[in-house]
Order: sequence, then structure tokens, then C-alpha cells
Amino acid sequence: MSTALKDVKRITTHILQQMKEDGEKIAMITAYDFSMARIYDDAGVDIILVGDSASNVMAGHETTLPITLDQMIYHAQSVVRGVSRALVVVDIPFGYYQSNPTKALESSIRIMKESGGHGVKLEGGAEVKEAVEKIINSGIPVMGHLGLMPQSIYKYGTYSVRAREEEEADKLIADAQVLQEAGCFALVLEKIPASLAEKVSKELHIPVIGIGAGGGCDGQVLVSHDLLGITKDFHPRFLRRYLNLYDTVKTAVGQYVGDVKSGDFPNENEQY
Ligand code: KIV
Repeated sequence: MSTALKDVKRITTHILQQMKEDGEKIAMITAYDFSMARIYDDAGVDIILVGDSASNVMAGHETTLPITLDQMIYHAQSVVRGVSRALVVVDIPFGYYQSNPTKALESSIRIMKESGGHGVKLEGGAEVKEAVEKIINSGIPVMGHLGLMPQSIYKYGTYSVRAREEEEADKLIADAQVLQEAGCFALVLEKIPASLAEKVSKELHIPVIGIGAGGGCDGQVLVSHDLLGITKDFHPRFLRRYLNLYDTVKTAVGQYVGDVKSGDFPNENEQY
């Protein structure tokens, strides 16, 4: 973190823009609850995303599709209470923006009013342009999301790398321009070739945050449960695990169970 950024009390979309211009990389992570969001904020994360990946890692669903707007707002409210510095962006879940721009705006207003988040994210390119414009015209910052879009998983049929072929890559580049022109303050690129992500990051003047999109982006995002090793059996090439919390927690709780069973816990100093 640069010295100038250390003094920043609250990350705003303008500061993120400045970071891109200064070549300062942006660190983003997902969070879903108060306690973990407070730790991530304290660690110096710039953007906290209340991702609809909550559907997977918090609720245990196979996809992001089932999570509701009410559930996203609940997670976002909890996160916002734990954050004092980072910009908090909240995913608009599947089914709450695709049908028409007015619905998209209404969903965004509920998120902003009820959670206290600082912006919303939605998936898609030209097809969501009007929705993006309507939300931004009402004063709500919007982050775009292209490449692998998990809300469209049943259309793709696979979570493999997107935009390897020229036609899809060209559409992605055009969509990125559309989102920038519509007023998005930043863009997430998920699971696309690094060379393509670098090209988009260079072409756009707004910050581009990658996940599985290589080092040429203006910043990186990871799902916190993956980074911390809480999720198991998920080993994409792009994921760097900083902890193996699954085993650490399992060992600790296993010891607790053993201590209770043996009568070792609580001891004389742990009672009144
Ligand atoms: O929901 C989520 O966690 C996301 C990230 C993968 C960017 O959208």
C-alpha cells in the first residue's frame, strides 16, 4: 500500500480511479458477514464484494442462482457493519435485474437503502446496458462483470475458461467498452486468457479487476473462502490458497470435542 493510500479514511470510486492512473494495484475480496469483513477491512483490502457466491459458500447451493435479494441484503447489512475503510459492493442476484431496467433500479435502490452498501455489481454486457445506465442515473455506482458469468452457468454448461475463441473475445472487448460508456466505475473479468484481460485493462480507462484473468489487470479479486482454504475440493489454477482453514478449524474443534468428552474442559480456572 502506498503511503498516500494509508491515510485514506474511506475508499471511494474516485480513489479507485486514481489508483488505476497511478498504477497502484487494487485488492478486492468477498465477504458475507460482520466478523470476517472487519478482519479483511483491517487487513487493508480496498474493495469488499458481498458476492452472490454467498449462495455457494454460505448457503451450500451448487450455483449462485438460488440466492434471493433479501438474503443478499442480509449479508450486505452484516458486512457494512464491520467495514470502515473499504468500498462495499453488493451483487444484484439472479432474477432481480435481467427482466427490465426498472426492476434493476428497484433492486439496486433496495440494496443501497437497506444495506448501506456503496455500489452494486451485475453480470453481462450490451444486454444490461440500459439497466446499468438507469441505475447510474439514479446515483448508484455500478461495477460490471464479464467473462465467466456464474449466473449464466446453465447457458455455458461448464465453468471452464471463457473467450478463448476470437468471436467471444471480440464480443467481450465490445461489451467492456459498452459498460464503460454506460458509466460503470469498474469491471470484473472472470476466468479469461491473461492476454485478453491485459488488452481490456489497457484499453479501458476504468479499473479492471481480474479473477483467473492474469496479472495484467488493475487489481485482483478472490472468494475469501477459497483464499483461506475453507472450501475443499476446489483447485482452479488461478487460486492461491493462503491458509488451510478447513483443516485448522477441524483440528481445533476436534480437540475441543476430545476435551469435553474426557472432562478436561472446563478446568478449575475456566469456571466460576
Ligand atoms: O460472487 C462472487 O464472489 C463474484 C466474484 C467471483 C467476483 O462475483
